Parts: sequence; C-alpha cells; structure tokens
Amino acid sequence: MVPGSEFSIDIRSEFPIKEQYVFLNHAGVAPIPASTQTAITEFARDAAEEGPANYPAWLHGMARAREAAGELLRCRPDDVCFVHNTTHGVLIIANSIRWREGDNVVGFEHEFPANIHPWRNLRERGVELRLVPEKADFRYSLDDLLAAIDARTRLVAVSWVEYGTGTRNDLAAIAEICRKRGVRLFVDAIQGLGVLPMDVQAYGIDFLAADGHKWLLAPEGCGILYVRPECIDDLNLSMCGWCGLRNPQDYDNYEQEYKPTAKRFEEGSHNLMTIHALGCSMRLLLDAGIEKIAERVLELTDWLMENLLAKGYDIVTPRSWRDRAGIVSARKSGVDPVELAKSLQEKKILVAARRGFLRISPHFYNDFEELQRLLNLLP
Ligand SMILES: Cc1ncc(COP(=O)(O)O)c(C=O)c1O
Repeated sequence: MVPGSEFSIDIRSEFPIKEQYVFLNHAGVAPIPASTQTAITEFARDAAEEGPANYPAWLHGMARAREAAGELLRCRPDDVCFVHNTTHGVLIIANSIRWREGDNVVGFEHEFPANIHPWRNLRERGVELRLVPEKADFRYSLDDLLAAIDARTRLVAVSWVEYGTGTRNDLAAIAEICRKRGVRLFVDAIQGLGVLPMDVQAYGIDFLAADGHKWLLAPEGCGILYVRPECIDDLNLSMCGWCGLRNPQDYDNYEQEYKPTAKRFEEGSHNLMTIHALGCSMRLLLDAGIEKIAERVLELTDWLMENLLAKGYDIVTPRSWRDRAGIVSARKSGVDPVELAKSLQEKKILVAARRGFLRISPHFYNDFEELQRLLNLLP
C-alpha cells in the first residue's frame, strides 16, 4: 500500500512541505495544508475586493469552524469559544474563577510555561500554585497528585501530553481524582488534539484549551477553549466584553445579559480569517479520521522508537501507546540535541531539541521513507 493511501485526502497535494523538507516537528509550529492556504487567500481576496459585503458568509464560516471544534472535542459547538492562543484560554479561566485567599491550584513540574504563568500570577490574590514533581521515569504519579490536593485546592491544571517528554497523562484517572475531591480540571490539550481522539464529556474535563498551530495544522494565534456548561455560573464576568452579550448588535442596551455558554468569553471582534483557517484544518483532520490518524502516528512512532533504540538512543517517552502520542523524545550520550537539530535543519530535516532531548514529532502524513532519511543522518 502506498504510505498514506488509507486516507481519503491527497497527501502529496495537501502537504507541499514534503517536497522541501522532512518535517518532523509537529510539536513545534506545524505547516498548514494547501486547502487551508487556499481558504486564507480566498478570504483575503474577498476582503480586498468586496470589503465586508460578504460578512454573513464569514460568520457562517465561523459557525462551521465551531461545529468542527465540537466534533473534535465531542461537545456542543456552543461550549467552545475561539481564543487567541492556549495561554489566552488559561488566562480566561484563571481570571474568572472566584478565588478566595488561601486557595491553591495543583499542576505538574515540567509543564510548558503557557500552563504555569497564569496560575502562578494568582499569588497576588493569595492563591498558591503547587507543582507535583516529575519522577525518574519522566512521569507523574497519581499518588503524588492526590497528596498535593487538599481542602483548599480548587483546580488541577495539566497537559494532556507533555511537550518535553511526550508522556500522555491519564486524563480519565486525573478527572476521577478531581471529581472525588470536588476539584475542577483544566487541560492544556495542544500536544494531543489532532492526533488523539478526545471526548471532553467522557473524560470529565471542566476546561480545555489548545491553539491551532501544532497537531491541528492551523496558523498560530487562534485556538479553542472548552468550558463545561455546568461551570459557567461559577465563573465571574471579568473576562467578558461586548461580543459576549446575547445580542452584541443591540449596541445601546448595556443592561442585557451575556450569552449562557462559553461564547460569552469571545470578548470583542473575531479574528475571522484565522478562525476560518482553523476550521478548514480541523475539517481536514476530521475527514481523514482521528482514529485513523492515531493509528498511523502509532505505527510511525513505534518504528521510530525501535530504530532509535537500535542506534543506541535512550528513549525518554514511554513505550506504550496508552502513555504517549506523537512525540518521541530521545537522547544519546555524547550527542548534543541542540547541535544535532541545527545540523539536521541544514539538511532540510526538521526536528527539535527540548529539555536536553532530541524531540521528533511526525504526523499522519509523514512516511517511513522520511523517518529513514532522518535515521540515516543520526550519529
Ligand atoms: C503544552 C503546550 N502548551 C502550550 C503551548 C503554546 O502556548 P500558546 O498557544 O499560548 O502559544 C505549547 C507550545 O508552544 C505547548 O507545548
């Protein structure tokens, strides 16, 4: 079978990046598919030639993007709002919870800083951020998480997949701990969404945020935030603005209520062009099939791990699929990952160096031949 032929999309024409590079850094900033590029240029042409004459069609595009987000997360589209990035999603929740002095948030020690600073800055309001330490096997223990939670814990904030090690956290187990302790759960899903199936309701997630620029294959600066409907009334309105009102066009009516869903957090004018692009990329992934994408990424990363081991690399990422996603992090004594990533880039092979590891992150449209080209160049 031709690699990728199990997908209904034309991989060669959708991913022109393959002609120039072996792109294995989807945990960084990913390339966008050709159909998303076309959607952006078409939007820009329309805006240049017609101004806002086709605004209703633009709004329709946003509605379609919201539907795609709902399908990806398995929730109602209205429970999703568009945000400027993952951090913006974290900030909305961090600044909307009605904290009391002495409360705490529990997170993990080596999270990407997007999921640290908005919580850390709450210290000005007397809220403590507690970080569970990483174990020697680069995982976090649920017992340690449980031990960090006390009567003043209001929220647990973790990544679905850790950016440095590629470890996939057990969201179902974490959500169960949170539910039993009466604590809310926030998930930074940027390293999992687009490669793993998600179901916010089945997992029991309260809040989830992700920007589009990694596994979702969309431009930077536009993402999604899910807010569980039952949590809306717990959140204050300090992050809401005129677009979050029930009828934003009723400009003089300052007394009206805010929308009853996550959409109330879309505070002002939307970044419609980028929302369009995000919608287009999400639709492409949904059409390809997230389950199939996950299977393909599993195949590619399994092969990669076996071959890295054969070359003497120590694999930092857990071997079992249950505990990982599309990131493979590895190291080898005497090999500097920063220098290695730089020299590979000169040969048009894109990987990354994070936390002292070589981080390789293929998506479903990569193939074994590309992985072999990388392996041939590894010391
Ligand atoms: C786990 C994680 N969260 C968030 C981000 C990015 O945050 P933002 O979308 O706010 O730029 C990254 C990577 O850049 C990441 O790896």
